[in-house]
Amino acid sequence: MGIADFAAYDISRDYYENFERGPRFKGSFPDLESLKKEELDFFGNRLAFPFGIPAGLLLNSRWVSFYARMGFPLLVYKTVRTVEHPSHPYPNCLFVKTGMLDPFKLPDVLLAPSGYEPPSLREVTITNSFGMPSMKPDWWQEDMERAKNSLPEGYVLVGSGVGTYAGSREKLVGDFVDVSVMLREVGVAAVILNFSCPNVEGSEGLIYTDYELSAEIVSGVKKAVPDVPLFVKVGFLYGKALEGFVKAVAPYVEGIAGINSIQAKVVKEDGSPALGAGREKSGVCGWAIGECARLFTVELSRIRKEMKADFLIMSCGGVTDRESFAGLKECGADVVLSCTGAMFNPLLASEIRG
Ligand SMILES: Cc1cc2nc3c(=O)[nH]c(=O)nc-3n(C[C@H](O)[C@H](O)[C@H](O)COP(=O)(O)O)c2cc1C
Repeated sequence: MGIADFAAYDISRDYYENFERGPRFKGSFPDLESLKKEELDFFGNRLAFPFGIPAGLLLNSRWVSFYARMGFPLLVYKTVRTVEHPSHPYPNCLFVKTGMLDPFKLPDVLLAPSGYEPPSLREVTITNSFGMPSMKPDWWQEDMERAKNSLPEGYVLVGSGVGTYAGSREKLVGDFVDVSVMLREVGVAAVILNFSCPNVEGSEGLIYTDYELSAEIVSGVKKAVPDVPLFVKVGFLYGKALEGFVKAVAPYVEGIAGINSIQAKVVKEDGSPALGAGREKSGVCGWAIGECARLFTVELSRIRKEMKADFLIMSCGGVTDRESFAGLKECGADVVLSCTGAMFNPLLASEIRG
């Protein structure tokens, strides 16, 4: 048995099979009452501990309920849209062979050799490529309601939405507003707008690099749903680029989430695209992007202090064990999340809270 065999998400199957049959788990569930508490007021909701899962792994309400039972208090349902949208075909996740990425010298090309497994759970690094699939809104609204109602006290459901590009900037802004209104109808504790998917073509994936468009979207959403705590999710930025983004969106948001996976060309040993033709570039996440996530969080925390702002920092990237969780907290994160780490080790929350 290898590392992949113990994962809740089965990387040898496609998104739809995982959606219908997952999560996989054979062990026993922790006693939630015995896990360490470090309570936080999350916009009027009690959060038992500042840890959870970012958008991606929680494909539907079964996944949300499962990870709540595993002791992850903040649960972000996978990004949804106002229209049904298919997933990229199999493969969706592959192990990547790399050392820790240097945030100042990010590689253009990374290797995903066939049959490769990482040396340990701590060093688990993958590329993922889904293209932000979504069910129809009436389906996901009902399912999110189910997810929310399954949560114990101290556990919180957050929604993540993305606008679908349909030919113009105005329509994209309008679609972000519509998806936020739909998420509000579910009664999620906060809405995170995904401005940063490395696995979609063009404008949907790189919104965070366009400050003007980012500000236009958040101001539109804030006007439409002023009572919902609003976050934006960004890719890796630091220094002046991060500062410019934060200044543009800070007047309209209650929090900033990041980082998303780091985009690279992922190839097999023979140089051919690991995910197949047409999907040369994809997002890399897990252990190897930990240093990027720490730098992002330190910088975001410095900028918040300099601006005398009080937005919440929700950090993820490379959290696979207690040390990497503590590392992001020390960098200034208010809440820490883990996607790849939690995918391969569903016991991660009970280890961190043990
Ligand atoms: C399987 C998978 C699916 C993901 N899907 C989404 C998504 O739908 N929306 C989003 O904002 N981020 C998505 N992400 C990115 C994660 O939320 C996170 O930003 C990134 O993986 C870095 O964290 P990690 O190193 O803990 O995995 C996904 C990541 C993975 C591994």
